[in-house]
Amino acid sequence: MAIERTFSIIKPDATARQLTGAINAMIEKAGLRIVAQKRVRMTREQAETFYAVHRQRPFFAELVETMTSGPVVVQALEGENAIAAYRDLMGATDPAKAAPGTIRKVHAKSISENSVHGSDAAETAVKEIAQFFSGNEIVG
Ligand code: CMP
Repeated sequence: MAIERTFSIIKPDATARQLTGAINAMIEKAGLRIVAQKRVRMTREQAETFYAVHRQRPFFAELVETMTSGPVVVQALEGENAIAAYRDLMGATDPAKAAPGTIRKVHAKSISENSVHGSDAAETAVKEIAQFFSGNEIVG
C-alpha cells in the first residue's frame, strides 16, 4: 500500500460548532496523520479558485458563500491510501446518504454545510495542498 497525502478542509459549519477537535480525533483514530494544519478565513478569490471545477454548477454561488462565511481549518493528511481512506471516513457528500460512523453522518448539517472536504484524486490532492501550504509547512 502506498503512503499518500490528501488535502482536507474542516468547513465553516464545523468550526462554528467547535468541532475541530472532534473531527481531528476521528481523523487520527482512522490512522491518518495531520502533517500540516492552519485556521484561515478563505477569501472569495481563494474559494472560487479552489472550487473552479464547479464554476458552472447551479450551487457554485452558494458554495463560495458558505466556504467564506467563517473560519476553516485546512490540513494535509498523510497515511496509507490517504485519499481513499479520508473519503471513506468523510462519508457521502450528502450527509443523509452517509454511512454510520462517518464524519458527515455524525456532524454534517446538509449537502452544502457538510463539515469537511477531502481531495478526490492524487493530482487534485497535490494541487489543493499547494494552494494552501508551502513545502516547509508540511512536517511528516
Ligand atoms: P466538497 O467535497 O467540498 O466538494 C464540493 C462541494 O459542493 C461539496 O462538498 C458540497 O458541499 C457542495 N455541493 C455539492 N452538491 C451540492 C448541492 N446540490 N447543493 C449545494 N452544495 C453542493
